[in-house]
Amino acid sequence: MTTPRSLIVTAHPEPESFTHQWAAASARACAAPIESHLVQEGFDPVERAAHFGHEGRFDVLKAQENAADTDTLPGDVAREVGRITAADRLILHFPVWWFGPPAILKGWMDRCLVNGIFHRGSQRFDAGLARGKSVLICATTGGDGVETARDGREGDINLILWPLMHALRYCGFEVLEPAFLHGVHGYQTGDARADMEARMAATLDQQAARLASWDSRPRVPFNADTDFDTEGRLKRGAPAHGPFISHRQ
Ligand SMILES: Cc1cc2nc3c(=O)[nH]c(=O)nc-3n(C[C@H](O)[C@H](O)[C@H](O)COP(=O)(O)O)c2cc1C
Repeated sequence: MTTPRSLIVTAHPEPESFTHQWAAASARACAAPIESHLVQEGFDPVERAAHFGHEGRFDVLKAQENAADTDTLPGDVAREVGRITAADRLILHFPVWWFGPPAILKGWMDRCLVNGIFHRGSQRFDAGLARGKSVLICATTGGDGVETARDGREGDINLILWPLMHALRYCGFEVLEPAFLHGVHGYQTGDARADMEARMAATLDQQAARLASWDSRPRVPFNADTDFDTEGRLKRGAPAHGPFISHRQ
């Protein structure tokens, strides 16, 4: 079996941030990693007609599909698509900002998970065009482990990141349960700072082992296509995986 290739995508404006340190630990642990540093590379996260030289009414899905079919994707998107295509594994490093990923990462998904390359109307979820690839989220939160738990006042972090993970699942990616470091922020002082720095050091030390256990790490459960009827409604008796899909009473 060939060694899997990993694409490490980092979304943080500060190269000295813990997020970047964690991403560097991922890169050290991977054979021939591919790296995207979205902010440092000046990635434009806003999808717009000008990227396609398009005039008139701009239909984003059609524009993406046409550019994919005619090999005319915008240069920055073509570069990122090439990186994703070359990779078997994605590792996404980012801080949680306003209960989600930073806008630049969401924009990277908007623009680079291209209709016609990683999904189409007829090829999504189980049939998503990225099937065979898998993804691990490595995220930091300012909230601590108690506040970001399911009964914590920041809300369940796994619930908060579910839409992001569902988008990846839509494209066919297998999604590993995310890795978090909680309670990360520059305001810590004294014992709290020492504790944070110890937890940071441990997270960096453990990253190689975390990535080495990729195949055996738990996956986020999603419904199979066969759990839904022809209209897309969850069948009676099917399991309801994911916090946003449930049976009607
Ligand atoms: C714009 C912004 C929004 C934030 N929103 C959240 C949030 O919703 N939940 C949370 O736990 N922390 C939040 N934080 C704190 C960051 O998650 C924290 O600063 C970051 O994880 C620290 O990692 P870093 O040192 O790599 O930047 C926010 C920070 C910023 C700048």
